[in-house]
Amino acid sequence: MSNHPRPKFTFLGHATVRCDLPGGEVILIDPWLDNPSCPPSGKDLSRLDAILVTHGHSDHIADAAELAKRFGARVIANYEIITWLAAQGVKNGTGMNLGGSVEVLGLRVTMVRADHSSGLPDGGYGGIASGFVVAMPEGGFTFYHAGDTALFSDLQLIGELYRPELAFLPIGDVFTMDPEQAARAARFLGVRKVIPIHWGTFPALTGTPNEFARCLDQLGASCEMIALAPGECY
Ligand code: NI
Ligand code: MN
Repeated sequence: MSNHPRPKFTFLGHATVRCDLPGGEVILIDPWLDNPSCPPSGKDLSRLDAILVTHGHSDHIADAAELAKRFGARVIANYEIITWLAAQGVKNGTGMNLGGSVEVLGLRVTMVRADHSSGLPDGGYGGIASGFVVAMPEGGFTFYHAGDTALFSDLQLIGELYRPELAFLPIGDVFTMDPEQAARAARFLGVRKVIPIHWGTFPALTGTPNEFARCLDQLGASCEMIALAPGECY
């Protein structure tokens, strides 16, 4: 609907999403560039301005410390994760918690609920798992990255409050929602576009975009699924 400029999104496998803003800034969400699906081109970064980390699990926080230090990128995550990263020399962290919003690169980033855990790679306490709603300035394009989560009905509130146009939803099962739950999540959110993540990385993650499409169809959900292969852009 809106003519506001939009970011370009690149799926880098697993839950890793690269977001290129219209002004050229680069954001990585849940950076794990050594994931088995990440294409070589995805590891090729010439700039990185901000990193969002949804929770402390190694498949989401993997490269956050190294990349933050290499590029001086600002890191947004829960308070416990930022404290843990700071102890590794990450200087530009902003800690927050569920319900809060911060301004990053002119975007409004809101930390929202996820039903999941958040232990850190060294066994430390990583706070509470989260998702992020990211809004471009002046009522522009808004998207939601769910992180790892089960289905919960308060996704309706996220839809009502923030009106995201696009959602990145996990579909792999075992650690997160499966395709059937993710289809209900898309309906709760009322999004027009949905991009599946957290699938295909390992054999244990059995949910597929095809199955997700079938579930959306069965549910009569009106949103469009955009199945990005790792390395593809939207
Ligand atoms: Ni996880
Ligand atoms: Mn995960």
